[in-house]
Amino acid sequence: MKNSIIAGVGHFVPETVVKNADLEKVMDTSNEWIIERTGIEERRYGKKHEETSTTMGARAAEMAIENAGINKEDIDFIIFATLSPDYYFPGNGVLLQRELGITNTEIGALDIRNQCSGFVYGLSVADQFVKTGMYKNVLLVGGEMHSMGLDFSTRGRNVTVIFGDGGGAVVVQPTEDKNRGILTTHMHSNGTFAEKLAFISPGAHSGYYQKYTEEEINYGFPQDVLGEVFVTQKMVDEGMLYPHMEGQFVFKNAVVKFPEVIMEAFEKSGESLDNLKLLIPHQANLRISQFVQKRLGLKDEQIWNNIQKYGNTTAASIPIALSEAVQAGTVKKGDLVCLAAFGSGFTWASALIRW
Ligand SMILES: CC(C)(COP(=O)(O)OP(=O)(O)OC[C@H]1O[C@@H](n2cnc3c(N)ncnc32)[C@H](O)[C@@H]1OP(=O)(O)O)[C@@H](O)C(=O)NCCC(=O)NCCS
Repeated sequence: MKNSIIAGVGHFVPETVVKNADLEKVMDTSNEWIIERTGIEERRYGKKHEETSTTMGARAAEMAIENAGINKEDIDFIIFATLSPDYYFPGNGVLLQRELGITNTEIGALDIRNQCSGFVYGLSVADQFVKTGMYKNVLLVGGEMHSMGLDFSTRGRNVTVIFGDGGGAVVVQPTEDKNRGILTTHMHSNGTFAEKLAFISPGAHSGYYQKYTEEEINYGFPQDVLGEVFVTQKMVDEGMLYPHMEGQFVFKNAVVKFPEVIMEAFEKSGESLDNLKLLIPHQANLRISQFVQKRLGLKDEQIWNNIQKYGNTTAASIPIALSEAVQAGTVKKGDLVCLAAFGSGFTWASALIRW
């Protein structure tokens, strides 16, 4: 089997910068609170009626395709990871194909729904297809337009201040070079805590999960609907159509699972953490990343943080950071790079790459 490499990287963030002070104007929050708890100073929001998770993913994909030195028609498989798709269905994969003007209908487009872990899950899928020789140019994209689905009242402040919009992309190709490539990928899940970080309605659950807690019900399980309707007036009136997160519970799990899944990648590949050039963690919260850094004993230059300027861009956060790190010359051929993510599901994952 061949090794797979990331042959091209790209990213895109929308123009509009939203500072913490801008959020202070619409909800009861403060710049100090946001910085102290999350490290976030500002985030970007896409333009309504102009940008979506697909279009931002497409701009990042164009950069990745150019960076890989190929043409869009060389792409033989598309993978799109997002939790803020343009439509409930069809998924962003086919929309990206159309947005990029890829007319080749011989190719497939796969949609990944693993939230913050979506990019690393997607990379693992791309790796398997490339290693086995099935595909030669897999386009993997993460794109998010969170700003269209957040609660900008004080009720939603714990979630809303965290998230931002953007897109990131890579092209995965085979290489003859035995010393380079994706060395190992690891994926995990635990559905027990599915509702701890979730966007519950609209959904086809028809009230099935009413056994859950009062708080969860208030955030999205309709109590008096028999399932004939997908979106009810009650959902709109009571603000159920927004993400729900038990922040502290998510935080406690994240700080355990991040180090675990990173060390799993080192143990399984036989590589030493001492040789790590750069860890790119999913940008969930600067405090989580700092905790992981401390736990693993990493120096500041061994971890990439950009959440301060983009917030948490979910499936886009790792490819945006990776693209920035490559652009900055921090990641070079032969470097050992680790990607790791944790998020809704819960799902968590890692990848170790010899660049
Ligand atoms: C969301 C998070 C920043 C909240 O920080 P926290 O210290 O856990 O805060 P809590 O939720 O316990 O809330 C503490 C207080 O701050 C308040 N608060 C919540 N959001 C606030 C905001 N944006 N501004 C001001 N106050 C806020 C709460 O209402 C609560 O007030 P109370 O004590 O009067 O009830 C933190 O839990 C976190 O980052 N969790 C992980 C989130 C994550 O990574 N999600 C993505 C997964 S990939």
